[in-house]
Amino acid sequence: MFSCRSYLLLLSSLLIATIGGQAENIPCNLQDAEYGKVCVCTADYCDYLENPTLSEDSEFALISSTQEGLRFELSKGNFGASEKHVVDDYEEPVVEVPNEASNATIFSRLYDAALAAIRPQSERATPSTTRSVTLRLNRTTTFQRIEGFGGSFTGAVSYLLENYEAQAIQDHLYKSYYGADGLGFNLMRVAMGGCDFDLEAWSYNEYPENDTSLTNMTKLDDRDVIRVEQIKRLRDISGVENLKIKGAAWSSPPWMKTNNKWTGFGRLKREYYQTWADFHLKWVDLMEENGLPIWAISTGNEPLNGIFFMPFVKFMSLGWTPPTQAIWLADHLGPTMRNSKYKDIVLFSNDDQRYTSPYWFKWMNRTRPNSLDYLDGVSLHWYWDEIFGSTFADKTNEYFPNKLHIISESCIGDKPWQQARPLLGSWARAEKYARSYLSHLKDGFHAWIDWNIILDEEGGPNYVNNTVDAPVVANTTTYTEFYKQPMFYIIGHFSKLVPEGSLRIEAIASNVNLDTVAFLRPDNKIAAVLFNSGRAALDIVVVDTIRGNVTLNVPAKSIHTILYN
Ligand SMILES: *[C@@H]1O[C@H](CO)[C@@H](O)[C@H](O)[C@H]1NC(C)=O
Ligand SMILES: *[C@@H]1O[C@H](CO)[C@@H](O)[C@H](O)[C@H]1NC(C)=O
Ligand SMILES: *[C@@H]1O[C@H](CO)[C@@H](O)[C@H](O)[C@H]1NC(C)=O
Ligand SMILES: *[C@@H]1O[C@H](CO)[C@@H](O)[C@H](O)[C@H]1NC(C)=O
Ligand SMILES: *[C@@H]1O[C@H](CO)[C@@H](O)[C@H](O)[C@H]1NC(C)=O
Ligand SMILES: *[C@@H]1O[C@H](CO)[C@@H](O)[C@H](O)[C@H]1NC(C)=O
Ligand SMILES: *[C@@H]1O[C@H](CO)[C@@H](O)[C@H](O)[C@H]1NC(C)=O
Ligand SMILES: *[C@@H]1O[C@H](CO)[C@@H](O)[C@H](O)[C@H]1NC(C)=O
Repeated sequence: MFSCRSYLLLLSSLLIATIGGQAENIPCNLQDAEYGKVCVCTADYCDYLENPTLSEDSEFALISSTQEGLRFELSKGNFGASEKHVVDDYEEPVVEVPNEASNATIFSRLYDAALAAIRPQSERATPSTTRSVTLRLNRTTTFQRIEGFGGSFTGAVSYLLENYEAQAIQDHLYKSYYGADGLGFNLMRVAMGGCDFDLEAWSYNEYPENDTSLTNMTKLDDRDVIRVEQIKRLRDISGVENLKIKGAAWSSPPWMKTNNKWTGFGRLKREYYQTWADFHLKWVDLMEENGLPIWAISTGNEPLNGIFFMPFVKFMSLGWTPPTQAIWLADHLGPTMRNSKYKDIVLFSNDDQRYTSPYWFKWMNRTRPNSLDYLDGVSLHWYWDEIFGSTFADKTNEYFPNKLHIISESCIGDKPWQQARPLLGSWARAEKYARSYLSHLKDGFHAWIDWNIILDEEGGPNYVNNTVDAPVVANTTTYTEFYKQPMFYIIGHFSKLVPEGSLRIEAIASNVNLDTVAFLRPDNKIAAVLFNSGRAALDIVVVDTIRGNVTLNVPAKSIHTILYN
């Protein structure tokens, strides 16, 4: 369904394409959805924003997205200007006036109101009065170095892409995430074999059983033949400069496990510890041989699923305790990788919830004091972080001051009290992402890899119906459109202008009306994320130690990234 606006956008983009001859900024084709607004992409149309250029030292570029409907709206201004730089919010075109609010809108408003009511008084906005905040940025106080941002290329993603017949629409998905005109992602997580977001459980060398030499792990599985080609296409078409792929196994083939099953209470049999380490090496080798070098691997996805959480987790998982993982890592995986041609591969543990850390690692160290030396980083999942707060991150940082700290999985819809499917257009879910990215980056995390880069309308396919939301949602009725959720843009406010190698710098807001994090990029530009979750406009006085001051006036419920020299 195309609105007038869509036709205008289409026409203007065609015009730009003909005149300019190359990529230009293409605005979002905004469409109303059940819970808010989404941007629609087809084979012929998808929104992009080139990286802004700055012509003078005092100039800044501001990218803005709002609940109302701005999506990566670019504006420019100058430090030292006497006038406020005002970001006007999106206004509905007058042609289409909805005559009644849908129940979905009413419910989401009620939900927002309830949320606002339980938030502390200090965080609550007074409607209709502009509030103000001073933000002090100091580029000489620096913190962690950013490794990057990314998403996951699961079997579900591969399957959905296969169903989009037009190569052009697949390419739009790749460029939207990994292109410089898209979100500028550089990290990616893939499963070694299957995961729950697959059509069935699978692994390499399922047969022959009891095969310690893994004689059948000589070529890519048919599913990976497709997936590897897709990822290579993504890499080429997006122009991503240094794609860093992180692999993780969900489960070994059942024959290596104590319960001989994909799921349930099952651990690796002791006699297969070396075989399972060899499996990892062979997988890295297979990927490399087929043109996809692997940057990192982890000790395996969510080890507690096969030890404690069997009543809830029905998908393929391999149980580890800290002592057994320490033995496997120190005596098998670590030496196997470090003595191979992939000795520099980055090793992560434990790909599980933050509340396990750092206790998990302390316990590993008690069993094998050298086990932690093999690790380059700690990879954690965000799912319970609202309950298990920043102290877990602080303690992990204190324990591992010199290792990489990354989020390796995140999505919404996993909780019993959440709807286990995409809520198309939900700004509330996008705000959850914004809060979490902000707090983790301020807590010293170096990187963030989100979960599935695309899912269907039900939040799958997932072979055990463990459905969730995703930043991009497919239309599986026609396979001619996909929808970019507000979440997609929120992630982009962090990833797009904060390239690998950026350093977090000091950013102090004078009150809670603004949540913020700022970076000094390798090209010496500053990028700061500004999040106004309040229901009123906000004056932000940006004070930079070198550049001077500028006042930004931003709308209610909005997020921005400012870039300047
Ligand atoms: C809202 O829900 C009520 C009760 O289910 C229904 O009667 C009404 O038609 C709905 N309104 C809209 C706008 O969908
Ligand atoms: C900026 O940070 C540096 C280094 O920590 C410090 O010496 C300086 O006083 C700070 N400047 C301001 C204006 O806070
Ligand atoms: C090797 O794996 C393939 C694919 O799973 C399977 O079809 C074949 O039977 C296996 N070969 C042996 C000897 O088990
Ligand atoms: C593999 O080993 C298990 C345990 O020793 C045994 O029960 C099973 O029969 C073996 N499978 C094959 C195909 O030899
Ligand atoms: C690991 O344990 C040893 C004692 O066995 C201790 O000396 C060392 O500090 C511990 N390392 C860490 C990172 O906890
Ligand atoms: C998943 O849901 C579908 C449709 O509701 C159902 O037919 C199927 O049995 C479910 N599968 C599992 C593993 O629960
Ligand atoms: C998918 O496309 C069909 C056909 O155009 C349309 O009826 C349906 O509403 C679309 N789905 C979504 C989620 O927009
Ligand atoms: C910048 O703003 C700060 C805080 O409001 C103020 O103290 C300072 O005088 C301003 N500097 C300039 C050059 O306007």
